[in-house]
Parts: sequence; structure tokens; C-alpha cells
Amino acid sequence: MRKKIVAGNWKMNTTLAEGQALASEVIHMVEDETNGEVHVVLIPPFTHLYPVHKLIGSLREKHIYLGAQDCSAHEKGAYTGEVSAAMLQSVGVDYVIVGHSERREYHAEGHDLLAKKAHRVLEHGMQLIFCCGEPLAIREAGTYLEYVETQLRESLFALDAEPWKRIVIAYEPVWAIGTGKTATPEQAQEVHAHIRRLIAGRYGDALAHEVSILYGGSCKPENAAELFAQADIDGGLIGGASLNARSFVDIVKARQ
Ligand code: PGA
Repeated sequence: MRKKIVAGNWKMNTTLAEGQALASEVIHMVEDETNGEVHVVLIPPFTHLYPVHKLIGSLREKHIYLGAQDCSAHEKGAYTGEVSAAMLQSVGVDYVIVGHSERREYHAEGHDLLAKKAHRVLEHGMQLIFCCGEPLAIREAGTYLEYVETQLRESLFALDAEPWKRIVIAYEPVWAIGTGKTATPEQAQEVHAHIRRLIAGRYGDALAHEVSILYGGSCKPENAAELFAQADIDGGLIGGASLNARSFVDIVKARQ
């Protein structure tokens, strides 16, 4: 059975005090209102990781985890401003996002760099949330399946099968991120099924069946249940709606 995951990517939002308050609220609601079946990942900015790790404490047993939004492709050294995978691991990070469209777009992160980042996350024993997804022009041109295929192939398909136990894919159509425009369940399912077929083609059906594939892009309590009802949508990577504890936990409940 593959994992059901709902991850909240806070992006560059919240001061430390606000972030701690949000994390506490989410943790309490998840404990009180959910059955513990869904893996919940809180992904605050780097500065809040350790304090949020403290708040999560032993709740990993109840499937509440800590995530980071990015990591350096380098192991260590003279890279001012970068944060390494070893550092993230040392403050209790369980999951790391690599390849978010905002990193690809605003920081010109390409396939090779993302392959190196993915490798760092995996070699430090953490779980990788690898994002893919097409911009609007590609959706309109009708070549989105090929586009997503290239993103996966170029950054991940050189890996052996073993680290795939720790890989989660997030399909996030760029035209749906932060725009209020969600992919329809059918649009999302088409790409999710394609991603699973690609993984099966490279690594076999059994492995492909175990990989959780999340949808991201204006996912909210009102549309989460119908997205999660699709056969190949195993959960969500939530941006805007993760900044409100009530909305985020309602999305977790929609995934149960
Ligand atoms: P959104 O962001 O939910 O605000 O659209 C999703 C994401 O970028 O992970």
C-alpha cells in the first residue's frame, strides 16, 4: 500500500512566532481530528526547521513529519547562503522538496542541478519530494506529457531502484500554482497515470505501484476530495491553503 501524504509548503511566509503558532495549531488539529493514516508533512522556511522539529517531537510515530523547501547540490564548503542536506538531516528533517517550479523559474534550476540535489537528499537518508509540471504554454501546445517525462527522465531515471523507496513525486502544473486555477481531477489523473507508467517502464510495475504521487496547484478543502478520489493521486502538496491550519487539516481529512 502506498503512502497517503499531505504536505504543506509554507514557501517564504511566516515569522518564527507565526510559524510556531501555525505548526502547533496544525499538530493539535491533526491529533484531535484525524485517524493518523495520512502522513502529514510541515515544510516551513529554513529558519523555522529546528523549532518546528521540537514541536513535532515524538509525533513522527503519528505520521507528522518535517520537510525542507530545497537543499544545496554541494556537500559542504564555500557556498555562501546555501543549506546542505547534512545540515537539514541534523535538524530532524524527514522530507526535502527538490525542483519546485519557483526554484526552476526564479533560480534557473535545470535538470542536472536538480539531479545533484536529489542525490544529496537521498544519500543523507531523507525522503525526496521531486516536483514536476508544465507551464501554461506547454499545456496549451498539448506537449505536457512529454515535458513532464523529460523532467523525470533527466533528473531521476539515472538512479538505481533502491533509493526510489524514498522518492515521492509531486505533479504541479505551473499554471495552477497560486493562481486559484486548479487542474480538473481528470487533467491531473491523466498526468499522474502517465508518471506511474513512466516509472513502471524504467523500474517495473511493482516499484511504480509503491511510489506516492501528489498533486499540487491551488488545492483547497473544496476541491481536495475529488482530486484525491482519482486512482493515481495519492495526496497533495499544498501551498497557500497550508498557511491556514483549518484549511490544511481539512485537506488532510479529505485524504483519509
Ligand atoms: P498553491 O501552491 O497551493 O498555493 O497553488 C502549491 C505549491 O507550489 O506547492
